[in-house]
Amino acid sequence: MSHVWVFGSANDDLIVRTATLPRPGETVAGIDARHGLGGKGANQATAAARVGVPTHFVGNLGDDPAGSRLRAALGEDGIELSGLTTVADPTGMAVALVDDAGENSIVVLSGANGSVTAAAAELLAVGPGDVVVVQGELPWAATRAALVRCRERGATSVWNPAPASVEILGDLGLADLLVVNEIELATLSGTEVIDDGLVDLKAAGADQVIATLGPDGVVGIVEGGRVLRLPARQVKVVDTTGAGDCFVGVMAARLAIGDPMGVALRWAIAASSLAVQKPGAAPSMPRAAEIASAL
Ligand code: RIB
Repeated sequence: MSHVWVFGSANDDLIVRTATLPRPGETVAGIDARHGLGGKGANQATAAARVGVPTHFVGNLGDDPAGSRLRAALGEDGIELSGLTTVADPTGMAVALVDDAGENSIVVLSGANGSVTAAAAELLAVGPGDVVVVQGELPWAATRAALVRCRERGATSVWNPAPASVEILGDLGLADLLVVNEIELATLSGTEVIDDGLVDLKAAGADQVIATLGPDGVVGIVEGGRVLRLPARQVKVVDTTGAGDCFVGVMAARLAIGDPMGVALRWAIAASSLAVQKPGAAPSMPRAAEIASAL
């Protein structure tokens, strides 16, 4: 079986529940708070591993208690961690406020994620058929090097530029598959019209482009320029933190298994509809059996 390689961020998430998110200058009461594994890369790796595909994670943690907890959490899901380096900087951290509707506001301190270098891309021992997943939470030079290595070795890149920055625009040709939400699509394309933005990003070089639209489902320009539109599942939302990462990780895993794009997207939609019904980021990722029964 092909493997999934996630080159990305890992954070110690502190998730604080509150009835409503505070406005600027406002103080609100919290309901509860819990630590858990997070970071877009770690979330995606967890989602892929729980589908049952051999998954590797390349990134940095700090030499601190949070780093030890995160390493253990990744290991519990069977993720191969020889590319996970311990560095002097503190482990990345995120504080996520989640309201009664499941919406969130997140502040990230990148810490050790910020010291991943382009040289780390050499740890990607990938070949044709493997799927390499990258996001936007590592230094751009490192992420770019991972995409270049993926292309040189004939693996498939799944690029989730979250958060998005216009500095990547000249390199969208390195994406076999670009996955964006509405905000990232607008940042990169300069338009809020979804279909126009997808066409723009494809014209800028991405081979296939998928936009995740939350309750409005998914739309993409896939193989051969075919346009795919798939509805979301209507569920009771508890916490949307990590739902986009779940989508990306499960889609990557199903592509590594060999699914056609339409099938991989259906798995990813079903999985993220399960993830939003549980609190937390990585802890909310569903397993293959749960996804299969939801399908
Ligand atoms: O996408 C959700 C993730 O964003 C959280 O787990 C947090 O760590 C931030 O990276």
